[in-house]
Amino acid sequence: VSEPANRADGVATAARRDVACLPAYNAGLSAADVRERYQVTRIAKLNSNENPFGPSPRAISALTAFAADAALYPDGGCSSLKKDLSGFLGVDADRLIVGNGSENIIELACLAFLNPGDRVITLGPSFGLHEIYARAMSASVEKIEVGADLQFDLPSWWSALRTCAKIVMFSNPSNPVGCILRTAEFRDLIRRTPADSVLVVDEAYYEFAQGAEYPDSIRELDRQDRPWLVLRTFSKAYGLAGLRVGYGIASSPDVVRLLDRVRTPFNVNSAAQIAAAAALQDQDHVARSVRGIVGERIAMRRDLIERGYEVAESHANFLFIKVRDDAQLCANRLMARGVVVKPWRDPGYARYIRVSIGSPADNGYFLAVLRDVNGH
Ligand SMILES: Cc1ncc(COP(=O)(O)O)c(C=O)c1O
Repeated sequence: VSEPANRADGVATAARRDVACLPAYNAGLSAADVRERYQVTRIAKLNSNENPFGPSPRAISALTAFAADAALYPDGGCSSLKKDLSGFLGVDADRLIVGNGSENIIELACLAFLNPGDRVITLGPSFGLHEIYARAMSASVEKIEVGADLQFDLPSWWSALRTCAKIVMFSNPSNPVGCILRTAEFRDLIRRTPADSVLVVDEAYYEFAQGAEYPDSIRELDRQDRPWLVLRTFSKAYGLAGLRVGYGIASSPDVVRLLDRVRTPFNVNSAAQIAAAAALQDQDHVARSVRGIVGERIAMRRDLIERGYEVAESHANFLFIKVRDDAQLCANRLMARGVVVKPWRDPGYARYIRVSIGSPADNGYFLAVLRDVNGH
């Protein structure tokens, strides 16, 4: 049976206006896609900021033992994992929310807080979902672009914060640039954020940024009399991206109860809950991963700068690199050799690629292929 000719038009007409014009999230290609499309055998997958060390052996054992219980529904309240996180973080369990990845909690916050027309302030360039989920709720999103130095442009933030906003949301360290808001700047931002704004601080790369300058956001925010959320994830330093589990620390149990009303009841599957709990117990694995990745990041950035590239200072597990010509072209050439990176397309950043820090072998392969395709 042939499809009615106007089928696609019908969908566009039926769709909510603000959904129909949303940009699609660019999740990138999988290793299998690249293998098939380019007929390459060697793949260095450096486009999704995954952990090259993989999950903790303890998480792998927990997952293997879990398989026989797959017939049962998960614990919809993630009570056991919340109890473990509570002990780990020193935060009461009723102030924690667990999500199907931390991106799920971004979605819940947008669903729970945003009315049509509300203003959301975020960072540019940004993690796509900070903008997409807000726009899906018909909010108006204002992006504060990083400065020419690829750091937070504080004067622009201060001026944006003079007008009321329902949500102020940004990642620290930022994705894709990798810059951070330092402790004094973070305090200043909190002080200048309108009293009735909800602050959402996305710390997906928290573990990589630990150091003297990086704010202890929970301690800083705990003195605040406003709703706030700090988001973290098991996808990056813990190496569990495929299982989808992240968590949020909220200002109060009321915030968690509000988000609970809009989440699907079993949003985190059992395998994810069990593996995350086991991974949390293996902080040695996290520390080893972070040490290895940060060491590689520093060496890789130094090498690229010596070769004439402009590379943003990064506090995360990736580098934001300016290339000679169009980023998409560069990414395509790299991909034809099996190196998968993420090209940026937003106006102003169309010459930047984001490259995840992978295993030493994959990083070395990327550096060699980049020289081949770019001539330096
Ligand atoms: C800033 C930021 N927030 C959230 C996420 C989503 O992470 P998760 O896998 O926990 O959904 C990512 C993933 O790349 C990210 O870069």
